Amino acid sequence: MMRRLFGASFLLYLLITLSSPSKGADTLTLDHPIADGGQPLISEGGSFALGFFSPTGSDSRYVGIWYNKISAPTVVWVANRQRPVTGKDGSLSVAANGTLVITGENSTVVWSSPSLDLSHPVVQLLDDGNFVVREADGNPSDPNNFAWQSFDYPTDTLLPGMKLGWNLTTRFNRQLTSWTNASDPASGEYTYGIDLRGEPQFFEWSGTRAVWRGGPWNGLQLTGVPQMTSYDKLSLQFFVDATQVVFVFHMIDASIVSRLVVNYSGTLQRLVWDDDSKFWNTLWYAPVDPCDTIFPCGPNAVCDTSRSPLCGCPQGFQPKNPTKWGFRDVSDGCVRKTEVDCRNGTDGFALVSGAKLPDTSSSTVEWFGTTLDQCRAKCLKNCSCTAYAQANISGSGSGCILWSTNLTDLRVYGGGGQDLYVRAAAADLDSESSHHRIHATAITVILALFILILALVGCCVWRRKKRSMPGMAISFTERHNDEGTEANDLDLPLFDLGTVADATGNFSIENKLGEGGFGPVYKGKLEDEQEIAVKRLSKSSLQGVDEFKNEVVLIAKLQHRNLVRLLGCCIQGGERMLIYEYMPNGSLDSFLFDTAKGWIFGGDETEVNTKRVVGTYGYMSPEYAMDGIFSVKSDVFSFGVLVLEIISGKKNRGIYDASRSLNLLGYTWSLWREGKGLDLVDEAIGDSYPKAEVLRCMKVGLLCVQERPEDRPTMSAVLLMLGSDSPLLPQPRQPGFVAIRGPLEPDSSTSKQDSLSINNVSVTMFEGR
Ligand SMILES: *[C@@H]1O[C@H](CO)[C@@H](O)[C@H](O)[C@H]1NC(C)=O
Ligand SMILES: *[C@@H]1O[C@H](CO)[C@@H](O)[C@H](O)[C@H]1NC(C)=O
Ligand SMILES: *[C@@H]1O[C@H](CO)[C@@H](O)[C@H](O)[C@H]1NC(C)=O
Ligand SMILES: *[C@@H]1O[C@H](CO)[C@@H](O)[C@H](O)[C@H]1NC(C)=O
Ligand SMILES: *[C@@H]1O[C@H](CO)[C@@H](O)[C@H](O)[C@H]1NC(C)=O
Ligand SMILES: *[C@@H]1O[C@H](CO)[C@@H](O)[C@H](O)[C@H]1NC(C)=O
Ligand SMILES: *[C@@H]1O[C@H](CO)[C@@H](O)[C@H](O)[C@H]1NC(C)=O
Ligand SMILES: *[C@@H]1O[C@H](CO)[C@@H](O)[C@H](O)[C@H]1NC(C)=O
Ligand SMILES: *[C@@H]1O[C@H](CO)[C@@H](O)[C@H](O)[C@H]1NC(C)=O
Repeated sequence: MMRRLFGASFLLYLLITLSSPSKGADTLTLDHPIADGGQPLISEGGSFALGFFSPTGSDSRYVGIWYNKISAPTVVWVANRQRPVTGKDGSLSVAANGTLVITGENSTVVWSSPSLDLSHPVVQLLDDGNFVVREADGNPSDPNNFAWQSFDYPTDTLLPGMKLGWNLTTRFNRQLTSWTNASDPASGEYTYGIDLRGEPQFFEWSGTRAVWRGGPWNGLQLTGVPQMTSYDKLSLQFFVDATQVVFVFHMIDASIVSRLVVNYSGTLQRLVWDDDSKFWNTLWYAPVDPCDTIFPCGPNAVCDTSRSPLCGCPQGFQPKNPTKWGFRDVSDGCVRKTEVDCRNGTDGFALVSGAKLPDTSSSTVEWFGTTLDQCRAKCLKNCSCTAYAQANISGSGSGCILWSTNLTDLRVYGGGGQDLYVRAAAADLDSESSHHRIHATAITVILALFILILALVGCCVWRRKKRSMPGMAISFTERHNDEGTEANDLDLPLFDLGTVADATGNFSIENKLGEGGFGPVYKGKLEDEQEIAVKRLSKSSLQGVDEFKNEVVLIAKLQHRNLVRLLGCCIQGGERMLIYEYMPNGSLDSFLFDTAKGWIFGGDETEVNTKRVVGTYGYMSPEYAMDGIFSVKSDVFSFGVLVLEIISGKKNRGIYDASRSLNLLGYTWSLWREGKGLDLVDEAIGDSYPKAEVLRCMKVGLLCVQERPEDRPTMSAVLLMLGSDSPLLPQPRQPGFVAIRGPLEPDSSTSKQDSLSINNVSVTMFEGR
């Protein structure tokens, strides 16, 4: 009885000490070091804890600070990141003079703070996550009284109130350094901090190599993070004066938990804790797209992810080396078309709006005026000035940044960004618009002629339809009525939506294999144990039922051993799905539509994918695009384009030889004729492929995309050709749509409109016939 009573009161005692930590649970005292396994320090409001921990997958012991109220263990600071304690004998103590020391086995010192000389040190974990040492009689919350603070020695995390940047008096620099990996907090490859050269800029480095430029602060945000201001719960501050260059952020709503991290895979992330889902949400991260890589387009060029190719030249500039540029080697960048005529004062400026300001490490900043006109005058007056922009865009704007070098790492955003004025010769500015008009007229005339000729050719071809195919070494037997274009002509099962839902666990996230351009792909298992992959077309896809059937027809015809087998489709209740055989080892399909290989397909091309599957301009045969004539041979054309796209990993829509304005077909054709067919092969394929087979596929692809429908083989012949080893394939003739338009400057407006206008022209010209 006594024992039980004693047991109960002991339990009560324990509960009380655990639930209401005595005053001082946030302070470390001389005679009470923190031993490994003992109570951690808890900050007064309970937000943070400090003690020994091991990262996941490691037995090593570290002293660190972590969030105390958050269910996901998240370490924000590590003291002895370079040298862990190996056993369980670790201890954190404070010396009489205030110096902090971590000792390990046999009392060996593994870490210590810089040596301090205080008379009555107080060591405390504050509720903002700062671990501080100060003199007992100082103001406890005044940072000036901190003899030492963990905030001055960030690891990979910036917390609210923590400074990033320089004390210019002492040249002391605070920057973030990633962990090595999830189980090792030692300094990793990536750092994030401020570069003081020119106008101070934020950079992420890998070692000494810059990997991402956040750019200068423009009064509202970093020029490289235009989305920074859109999150209104964040207050950002940047202090520049003679004593410091420092960035600090605060949460306007203190209940929101947010941090900035350089993660060990090299991404700078802003994370916000979501208490409902118990997850860290990534609010934004960088680098995020191809234009974020350092210096993607060479000097004076503009990177724009909404355009394909990504790189263009600003008004008044042209590619320095058009041939290399055409082959996507943009390292030489752009040069002026006409040299500026500085002394006569006739120069003007080309506006680049929505810009991320170019590298400012050798620019100068002038605070003399507030108006852009003064900046402009200042730049015009100085012959070495190449560009200018407003330095502080907050409020009415003030100051200017002046560049006197080639502009590097310039990009534009779809939204956000600011105006940049690039010096250009008057001749290039005045004539540009009229030049464009002449250009447009020329293109229209050429196009009209081209279409007329095509139509004439088409008519002749139409009349001689019954003539046999010349130049064919093998004769193909044409079978009628077995290549109909209706989905219901195919013996293709329609799956019930319920069956598919059951097979994929109701499209559960665990069964999701990935996300293609068309929508998510799920793995599933039918009742008969057959494994399937379900491509669920995103609802946002603009594809109609007919177009969907077109794809089904095309794919069903492609039942070749290199392609995944289509088992059926599901068209029910607004859902459109394709059901394939599941290929465990990363099928061709997953290779093709793998978003990780999106650096192969440009941004706007994926956008084209999302809207329609087959039947985009890229797969359309010339006779269909021009005359609206659709036949089984149009399908053969589409198939040929698909084959060439598979081989090259490129979309037909892009331009792959700017000097000759060649699309994929034209480019393939020119390589083929020069005997350099293998140059087309997607780099991602590597070297381990049967060259003869690839060349045969390419040849078959080229046969399929021949301009004249009657030159193209039938689908059954294509299957024979792909399956046979016979070298006796006919020689392909010139494909249709070799050059999609006349000579085009890579920096002129988007290609989408051009192709649209082609379609419009063809519609208006031929509807009246
Ligand atoms: C600690 O001391 C023991 C006994 O002297 C020795 O065997 C051991 O290697 C020492 N460990 C370290 C880490 O120095
Ligand atoms: C503070 O104490 C530590 C440990 O006793 C000692 O190593 C250090 O030299 C002392 N610092 C100063 C400034 O006296
Ligand atoms: C820079 O460091 C010195 C020495 O620690 C300190 O006195 C000064 O206040 C610091 N300056 C700023 C702006 O933090
Ligand atoms: C983490 O890095 C350390 C040191 O480079 C290495 O020994 C360890 O194997 C790595 N752990 C993982 C999980 O990659
Ligand atoms: C930018 O301008 C705003 C408004 O004029 C001003 O409040 C702010 O301090 C300026 N920022 C810098 C970094 O000069
Ligand atoms: C780093 O951040 C990126 C972007 O949020 C994320 O995709 C990646 O998984 C992160 N890496 C680690 C190790 O957390
Ligand atoms: C300035 O203009 C004059 C006359 O228009 C011209 O002859 C001269 O070449 C120009 N100077 C420069 C440096 O281009
Ligand atoms: C012109 O600009 C350069 C580079 O910024 C600068 O060194 C030079 O002093 C400027 N000249 C004048 C007259 O302002
Ligand atoms: C710009 O780059 C070109 C080479 O592309 C070089 O000749 C020229 O001197 C550079 N101009 C400046 C101002 O740095």
